[in-house]
Amino acid sequence: MSDLVYVLNGPNLNLLGTREPTIYGSTTLGAINGMLASRAGELGLRVQCHQSNHEGVLVDWIHEAHGKAARAILLNAGAYTHTSVALLDAIKAVTVPVIEVHLSNPHTREPFRHTSYIGQAARGTISGFGARSYLLALEAAAGL
Ligand code: DQA
Repeated sequence: MSDLVYVLNGPNLNLLGTREPTIYGSTTLGAINGMLASRAGELGLRVQCHQSNHEGVLVDWIHEAHGKAARAILLNAGAYTHTSVALLDAIKAVTVPVIEVHLSNPHTREPFRHTSYIGQAARGTISGFGARSYLLALEAAAGL
């Protein structure tokens, strides 16, 4: 099985560190990616990390991960989690397992965050542990 894990982050996650820190914490996305790269090395994996504010770009990266026969995709789709049939269809269209990730626990927040299109096709979901959600998801990917 491939050692390559795609890490995809959606809209506004480039602002982690300063974006609503009481909800999302003060760790930057760069720092999260650094922690993931380091832990991936320990697990015998490698990560390829991307962020976009654009839905179709995220779809393209899901296809790319499939084309490279990646082991898994860690996907924090941000607000697209709750709106994007295109991302749901992309996940259904590929064989790479997708692990849904959230820093916050959307189920404890506004009702519009309680629905996840991603979760309807994801292998599993990890949410609510801040930046550690990504590390927990990487551990899950290692165990696939
Ligand atoms: C988020 C939760 C989403 O509801 C929100 O739109 C985000 C971040 C999280 O990581 O907690 O942008 O995905």
